[in-house]
Amino acid sequence: MSDLLTLLLAAALLAGVIALGWWLLIATEGVYLGRRMVIWLYDLYAGRYDGIKHFRREYDHMYLAQPIMERIAPIKSPLVLDAATGTGRLPLALLRHAHFQGRVIGVDLSRRMLGHAAVKFNDAHANLLWAPAEHLPFADNCFDVVTCLEALEFMEHPETTLIELIRVLRPGGILLATNRINTKLMPGKTYVDDDVAAMLQRNGMGQVEIMGWQADYDLVLGYKKGQSTPTLARPLGELLLCPRCGHAHLTDEGDHWVCSNCGARAPVGHDGVIELAHLARRG
Ligand SMILES: C[S@@+](CC[C@H](N)C(=O)[O-])C[C@H]1O[C@@H](n2cnc3c(N)ncnc32)[C@H](O)[C@@H]1O
Repeated sequence: MSDLLTLLLAAALLAGVIALGWWLLIATEGVYLGRRMVIWLYDLYAGRYDGIKHFRREYDHMYLAQPIMERIAPIKSPLVLDAATGTGRLPLALLRHAHFQGRVIGVDLSRRMLGHAAVKFNDAHANLLWAPAEHLPFADNCFDVVTCLEALEFMEHPETTLIELIRVLRPGGILLATNRINTKLMPGKTYVDDDVAAMLQRNGMGQVEIMGWQADYDLVLGYKKGQSTPTLARPLGELLLCPRCGHAHLTDEGDHWVCSNCGARAPVGHDGVIELAHLARRG
């Protein structure tokens, strides 16, 4: 084999490795390498996330907070869960809404993303939890509104996560999620809008609306089948279940939340984030 051919083959191999690395780490944000890699990358980029996304306050009001407040009206104090909250975009939009008097709980598995969320609001109407969206530490049917923006495609099993979101939503409650419509680079992780609507409906949702939003995402808004009394804003201590034993409510002891049943202890970070992620389920 001539030296030139060897050189060309080596260059092609190197280009292939670089392209694969770019696709695995940048284009698909580690999603094919598992949850740990996704979270590691979000931890790594947490400080740059808002700068990359260029969030605009008026758009988040118009497309996120306002549609929720309009549909939940006349209730002004809904209990809201934002799964995969990141740097707190949705909680912030709701807390800034003139009519919002509810409570919003943001959950994420990237501790550093939550750290950036925490500096944006120190509000008695909001809590941040370090926990996975796949195992939410809440009882069935307890939230008036559940949201999950720009995140389902990063979950190992998007449908299983949706089922968990629907589990904690009360009958008649509102789910606001996003569907990534730029599907070319993430085979098996993204869906066409009709498939998302069908997935929601076979898992307990009733009417589903799909609305255009951004170049890469549509908004998906639906109501859980059935009707129930609004839960309304209430203290976290009445809501938070022990992620380890799943039985008891956790009690706030200042710098820890403690389970009276199994003794599990969840620290509260210096920034107020409640750290549940290490309390893995037993058995
Ligand atoms: C693109 S960001 C979206 C953040 C936020 N919802 C927004 O609209 O700006 C995706 C978020 O999903 C979080 N995430 C990914 N997998 C997760 C999981 N299994 N449980 C909880 N959060 C997760 C990441 O840490 C990251 O903060």
